[in-house]
Amino acid sequence: MKNLNIAIVGLGNIGSYLYRYLEKNKKIISEKNNCVPNVLYVSAKNKKRKRAFSINKKKWLKNYLDATKRNDIDLVVELIGGSEGAAKKLVFNALKNKKHVVTANKALIAKYGDQLAKIAEKNKVNLEFEASVCGGVPIIRSIKEGLIANKIKKIYGIFNGTSNYILSSMDKEDKNFFDVLNNAKKLGYAEANPSADLNGDDVSAKLKILSSLCFNSFLNNNIHVEGIANIDKDDIDNANKLGYKIKLLGYAEVINNKIYQRVHPTLIKKSSYVASIDGVLNAVIIDGSPVGQSVIQGEGAGPAATTSALVSDISSILRGNIKFPFSISSKDRKKLKFKNISERFFSAYLRFEVADKYGVLSNITNVFSKNRVSIKRLIQNPKKNKDKSTIVIVTHSSKDKSYNKIVKEIDKKNYIIKKSKLIRIDDN
Ligand code: HSE
Repeated sequence: MKNLNIAIVGLGNIGSYLYRYLEKNKKIISEKNNCVPNVLYVSAKNKKRKRAFSINKKKWLKNYLDATKRNDIDLVVELIGGSEGAAKKLVFNALKNKKHVVTANKALIAKYGDQLAKIAEKNKVNLEFEASVCGGVPIIRSIKEGLIANKIKKIYGIFNGTSNYILSSMDKEDKNFFDVLNNAKKLGYAEANPSADLNGDDVSAKLKILSSLCFNSFLNNNIHVEGIANIDKDDIDNANKLGYKIKLLGYAEVINNKIYQRVHPTLIKKSSYVASIDGVLNAVIIDGSPVGQSVIQGEGAGPAATTSALVSDISSILRGNIKFPFSISSKDRKKLKFKNISERFFSAYLRFEVADKYGVLSNITNVFSKNRVSIKRLIQNPKKNKDKSTIVIVTHSSKDKSYNKIVKEIDKKNYIIKKSKLIRIDDN
């Protein structure tokens, strides 16, 4: 049987899990792929860190960049993370030196994927990044292989386990935001710096990668991004009363030949499939032709799920399956026009915290009518003994930019106590 010599660079939660998995499952993975995955070398920032397993001294690379230079290495697995610095250097150099690369690094692929793909194609090596999007959910290989027949018009879903875990725990267990976040960190779901989990950047990177695969386009930075930091228990309770759940969703869709990419908290009907996805689970829904709607769900974060995706990529290389990293050749990928969501129509949930006095409600509804936004439902909840009130308005479908104008105008009024909120609704 042939061998494929591997260097794993980065031995944090994920690198360590992958190392041990490959040690334990070498035989079955070799049999399935007719080629042996040989982990010849490893490298880590902190070699001395206490690990629950031992690594033969001979396996340690002196310098992580040796992985890109040594003749006895065929495949570099990059598990350092981050779009710049060591990870970037390692992946660019490895591909330039004709090494295959497997990476879980969505930030790197979302930023430099187009350049990296060109180098990989020129040098006829693989650049595989299944683990960069939705952990154990095999969405990239599904788009590139299982769903290859399809013209995709929409991909959407829950692409961040940490934020989904936080939102569903706030909903179900009445827990506080920071306790839940700490738990997500302990379980290895959250990023080392969880701000990307909370501000939408993590979903944004994943969505850019997915939409370029779905629409055969280059990566595109025209994307609307909002995270979950402003969502509180009151919004979740209000949504429940109105028949919705709040989820952080990513969408890439073609509407009248225009592509929109957006990431934002969304009110989605309780009866919808996406609303039922709780905890660290991710779910991806694809609308394609001829397949119709296809759904994949699974654990989107954590070392075990991510290892499942990494081994899928490694296996593809073991089988000698060299494909274009983004499904089609860089020569055939298109520079498509992506549109800003300001012209797109949504219905929306708006929440205003106001001083409870005469004229406020009529002033607010006037601003809506001036901007030609029609109100569907209105709930006013006065706070006990506080001369304050919450006004929640649900609208009929209107242009996104109208909502922004309304919020901007109302937030200048002296009866406003707290910054107003706008959460888009998905009524499908
Ligand atoms: N931090 C990510 C998440 C996992 O919570 O979904 C890696 O993409």
